[in-house]
Amino acid sequence: KVPEELKAKYLFRLPQAYNFADYIWPGLLMSPQRILAIRDIEFQPSDIIIASYPKSGTTWVSELVSAIVHNGDTEAIKAKRQHERVPWLELNTDYAWVKLYDFWQSAQKALGYSPTVKEEDEKKSKPVARVWFTHLPLELLPKSALEGGCRIIYVSRNPKDNAVSFFHFHQMARFLGQQTTTWEEFFPLYASGDIYCGSWFEHVLSYWTFSRVNKHVLFLKYEDMKKDLSREVSNICDFIDFDLDNEARKRVIHHCTFDTMKNNRMANREGVWLFNQARSKFMRKGVVGDWKNYFTVGQSEIFDQLYSYKMKGSNLDYEFDP
Ligand code: A3P
Repeated sequence: KVPEELKAKYLFRLPQAYNFADYIWPGLLMSPQRILAIRDIEFQPSDIIIASYPKSGTTWVSELVSAIVHNGDTEAIKAKRQHERVPWLELNTDYAWVKLYDFWQSAQKALGYSPTVKEEDEKKSKPVARVWFTHLPLELLPKSALEGGCRIIYVSRNPKDNAVSFFHFHQMARFLGQQTTTWEEFFPLYASGDIYCGSWFEHVLSYWTFSRVNKHVLFLKYEDMKKDLSREVSNICDFIDFDLDNEARKRVIHHCTFDTMKNNRMANREGVWLFNQARSKFMRKGVVGDWKNYFTVGQSEIFDQLYSYKMKGSNLDYEFDP
């Protein structure tokens, strides 16, 4: 049971927080109008949406899919920031500061502070599909996506590591208030789902169940990607019906290792105003099992009980050890 004052403190720390459709939203980035408006977007069959609960490996899968749909042309994608190649579906792009940020980026390009893609290269490296990412809960996805109008790749991660990563994320994401929340405070909020994006269990289980009966949904796990990235690349290629030759596949895999991505300004969110990376890096640790450095024995036991209760009968399981 989470004390009401802890919930209130969380809401108070989240800039312009509001409640909509039973979820807490960061008002700096998202508006109910935008969330409602995107329900009517009509997708094309080749479009791809990468969906996840935050901190599950969204950026990793986005970089993989982006590299694949550019046919392994990693040089071309290194010239463009990831959020330009894989935009955030529910972000309210009408907000003045978002526009200002775009303006600032184009000014940087014009002044030569940031690499520009030459027009002929842009044509050469035209992706074969459009890609977005989203953290929307299943029931708020655009109708056309729910009805099979495009492909959905859902990525999930064991909830103990996910909680730790989300804890650090709250400290550096400006839109979440760069919270100085302690782990002691964050743990019950995460377990109960009284945070941005709600309960990990509900998010993951709804997409999991949906993916069991819908061929246009691929369900991935962070731990599987850590274990064998090459296999997961094949999995994604099969799913989107795309062939990569051997050389291209090698380039994609090298481009998407943790170390390469950490040092790639176009993938590590460096310079993106939303994040204060002086507080915590976006590409923080990238491992399985970091939860052991945070969970107390008591927290781990409580969480294990919650996990078995919530996951019972789902046929979905996660690895928690490296
Ligand atoms: P940690 O905070 O545990 O390091 P998201 O993109 O959904 O926000 O998830 C971010 C998490 O994925 C971070 O986890 C980040 O380090 C990790 N990550 C990103 N790219 C990765 C990669 N190439 N290999 C392993 N982990 C990666």
